[in-house]
Amino acid sequence: MIKDSAITIAPETKLRDGSSSRPNSRKVFIKTYGCQMNVYDSIRMSDALAGDGYEQTEDMEEADLVLLNTCHIREKAAEKVYSALGRLRDMKKRKAADGREMMIGVTGCVAQAEGEEILRRAPAVDVVIGPQTYHRLPEALRRAQQGQRVVDTEYAIEDKFEHLPSAEKSKIKARGVTAFLTVQEGCDKFCTFCVVPYTRGSEVSRSVAQIVDEALKLVDGGVREITLLGQNVNAWHGKGPRGEEWSLGDLLYRLAEIPGLARLRYTTSHPRDMDDRLIGAHRDLRTLMPYLHLPVQSGSNRILKAMNRRHTTAEYLALIAKIRAARPDIALSGDFIVGFPGETDQDFEDTLRLVEDVAYAQAFSFKYSTRPGTPGAELKDQVPEEIKAQRLERLQALLLKQQHEFAETCVGKVVDVLLEKPGRMPGQIIGRSPWLQSVNVDAKASQIGDIINVRITGTSTNSLFGEVVQVSDTQRSSTA
Ligand code: 5AD
Ligand code: SF4
Repeated sequence: MIKDSAITIAPETKLRDGSSSRPNSRKVFIKTYGCQMNVYDSIRMSDALAGDGYEQTEDMEEADLVLLNTCHIREKAAEKVYSALGRLRDMKKRKAADGREMMIGVTGCVAQAEGEEILRRAPAVDVVIGPQTYHRLPEALRRAQQGQRVVDTEYAIEDKFEHLPSAEKSKIKARGVTAFLTVQEGCDKFCTFCVVPYTRGSEVSRSVAQIVDEALKLVDGGVREITLLGQNVNAWHGKGPRGEEWSLGDLLYRLAEIPGLARLRYTTSHPRDMDDRLIGAHRDLRTLMPYLHLPVQSGSNRILKAMNRRHTTAEYLALIAKIRAARPDIALSGDFIVGFPGETDQDFEDTLRLVEDVAYAQAFSFKYSTRPGTPGAELKDQVPEEIKAQRLERLQALLLKQQHEFAETCVGKVVDVLLEKPGRMPGQIIGRSPWLQSVNVDAKASQIGDIINVRITGTSTNSLFGEVVQVSDTQRSSTA
């Protein structure tokens, strides 16, 4: 699931008197575009920079370093970055006139795709670092400080995760009770619309030891819910303790043994890689939340073939039936593309029919956008913009209706809610249902991290409302 929103990671806590916890430290502002994997990467970069005295700030004005952690998945991504860089150039000039230096770095998938071109078009940029080399970011910044502009977009031979520092416990705590953990990167599927295999490279899985170690540290820092991330997460594979082959299902069984870890999720999956072990994990593990993001992209077999998805609608529906048989309360989510080259009215109607058949709890849908370098960009029959827009509107209306219908089925039920953070209203806490919905409930801030029973009383566009029924002692956070 990739969203177009920009996220700024929360800064380190300031001391009461307004000073920062590290005097004379430098400040970094990180703007994160795109998917959860970028959110995770931004956190890891922030931890890597902490060693060089950088603290995060939410105020770009006071930043000594601004990083744009970019996304390249859909149209105009690079242009958006260049226009943001234009604004940063002006800020850099203004600060320089006041005798303050501000460095600018571009990281993420646009950095990978554009490389040197960024230095050429945006002379204010000091460093350009790809997703596989950001462990070298502190070194690149040191070189940039000596006047050398750095582009590092190699696929590093060394494992970046081996070279990245772990977060301090206090930082993990400050980041909240839910966390991402990247277990897999890259993609070998080569869907014909997608840039990921080119920007993130081929599939790489992190080792069981690395993942378990990171999960233990997160839980020790108060994290109660971990979402395992990968561009194609269910292609993750590794070795078990006796050298046996493990798939994502095995990894989930292992992680479910970690005391204090209450919830597990994973995203994003490809239908071809949903093996029986993974489906079994959904049946057996209460820790594994009953929610699955399983993109299908289109409901037309012709289009699925042209997209190189390597499965049919019948296979997808059979898979869904199998997953639902294993875990009847599972909520399904998906991604859809409308207006892929050659998509006819009938193909689009087939997509609507598939959506009706599946009944999604949530979904993301996009107009096809041509990505340079992908096979889809070469295809003739591009669909006119107005038709794409009309189809998207119809599809989104149907998906939204399904989302509301799903939310309505929750009303009156008592559900487990993980209390996450203070809400907008005093006394209100925002929690998360097993099906990834936000739930607003009156509770105490000291209960953040607890999983409590909430009776759902109502719904709004994107969240649920509920009232506390009782708190089960056995489910209390041990690390709060
Ligand atoms: N055009 C539109 N949507 C795309 N996605 C990926 N590439 C494109 C593209 N070229 C969507 C897919 C994918 C999600 C992350 O982004 O639906 O699952
Ligand atoms: Fe892109 Fe397809 Fe790989 Fe997903 S599975 S990252 S859509 S190529």
